[in-house]
Amino acid sequence: MIVRFRAPPVPPERSVLFVCLGNICRSPLAEAVFRKRAQDAGLAQHLHIDSAGTGNWHVGRPPDRRAQVAGQRRGYDLSKLRGRQVAPEDFARFHWILAMDQGNLDDLRGLQPANFAGHLGLLRAFAAKSDAADLEVPDPYYGGPEGFELVLDLIEHATDHFLDHLHADLRRRGQL
Ligand code: 4NP
Repeated sequence: MIVRFRAPPVPPERSVLFVCLGNICRSPLAEAVFRKRAQDAGLAQHLHIDSAGTGNWHVGRPPDRRAQVAGQRRGYDLSKLRGRQVAPEDFARFHWILAMDQGNLDDLRGLQPANFAGHLGLLRAFAAKSDAADLEVPDPYYGGPEGFELVLDLIEHATDHFLDHLHADLRRRGQL
């Protein structure tokens, strides 16, 4: 979650939520990477981009220091982000709900209302080759700094593919 003044609501089709377990490592990195990619593509002003965790342990806290350092080295600023927990209302506000791993996805499916008409899936599915067996962004919390570099590599690759997909989807809907 980024703290800022209240702006007019953005339609769900242009709203993207990245979800992990704690909202202090992977999903804040995905939020920051995707925001930068969208800015560079001139799309950021059309989008609402956020992140959340399925757990509540880190609500209100800044991202993990290791995620901030790894992100900053590649030009992503996570300093203003604060942890929040996924809420049932997120399924009304966001069309695109992208989970980092299968456990996150299973938890989200448990919260998903029957009338949710958006896309709930794994972020890396957008970058998958047809034979890709592992579509997860692995949890780096209990590992070393190299885990955060891997997370960034996977997220940068997958968000590029997702941005292309979203761009095409919005053009198809006549929203760009
Ligand atoms: P994240 O990583 O889901 O990528 O934010 C974790 C952060 C905290 C914990 C686990 C994973 N934790 O157990 O507190």
